[in-house]
Amino acid sequence: MQIKGSTEVYGIIGNPVAHSLSPIMHNSGFEALGLNKVYVAFPATNAEKAIAGCRALGVHGLSVTIPHKEKILAFVDSIDPMAEKIGAVNTLVFQEDKKIHGLNTDWIGANRALAEKLELRDKRILLLGAGGSARAIGFGLLEAGARLILASRTESKVKALAEKLKCEWIHLDEIETVEADGLINATSVGMKPIENASLVQANSLKNFPIVMDIVYAPLETRLLREAKSAGCEIINGLSMLLYQGVAQFEAWTGQDAPVEVMHAALMKAITK
Ligand SMILES: NC(=O)c1ccc[n+]([C@@H]2O[C@H](COP(=O)([O-])OP(=O)(O)OC[C@H]3O[C@@H](n4cnc5c(N)ncnc54)[C@H](OP(=O)(O)O)[C@@H]3O)[C@@H](O)[C@H]2O)c1
Repeated sequence: MQIKGSTEVYGIIGNPVAHSLSPIMHNSGFEALGLNKVYVAFPATNAEKAIAGCRALGVHGLSVTIPHKEKILAFVDSIDPMAEKIGAVNTLVFQEDKKIHGLNTDWIGANRALAEKLELRDKRILLLGAGGSARAIGFGLLEAGARLILASRTESKVKALAEKLKCEWIHLDEIETVEADGLINATSVGMKPIENASLVQANSLKNFPIVMDIVYAPLETRLLREAKSAGCEIINGLSMLLYQGVAQFEAWTGQDAPVEVMHAALMKAITK
């Protein structure tokens, strides 16, 4: 697309952002729909100054990533109720009156990825991790009517999150004792460069018909490889990444996102 004086600017703020796949995903979507919009990466260490600058420059929308997802809440004019519950915002919509609305699409991305294989209502899900992603996914699963069990490494963190989510929690070494409809890894275990790691013993994976890993580099983690061998259905981290982006795209444009095009752009970038 030819960038013109009238082209609307969108972007991602965070630090680091040079590795982000969001510009590839969103620009492919804008181009597919012939929209006069462009998406760029803004490395930003100060969230308050970054959004003040974007507001002043007439930026139309932002993705927000590490380390700003929590502190950005203080600088927006309105917050979606789920983002408020989660305590983190990953999407900003700059409205016509210059007000900034914050929302969280990470939970939407995870739910939509799971919904391709599983109706979540009343299902029992074991969620690994107690960090930012686990928090968003946990609230999203409850919103969809699932029943949750949390497991994570640091007892104080898993206890605190389980209290917020009002759910059961266990230690990592108790995973083998659990049977559930699904298992989600929302930790960074299995991510490059420590690819050959998994928190779940291969022989207990048969207890989970569906296994999702939110790590997307590599696309097939050790957990997913072993889950496939154990006969489980698997969902890789690209699905959540795609669908959280699809929800952002739709919040910014008011149009249905070209999901296939955005998926193909992500696949090409990840597998190259
Ligand atoms: N697919 C997507 O769309 C998507 C979106 C967001 C994030 N992600 C990926 O999800 C992962 C987690 O992101 P996050 O933002 O939630 O990170 P985070 O807030 O730093 O949380 C990381 C979690 O992983 C646990 N962990 C790390 N190393 C561990 C180990 N060796 N053994 C056991 N537990 C370990 C941490 O446990 P402690 O609390 O004990 O340290 C914590 O619970 C990252 O790999 C990220 O790339 C994917």
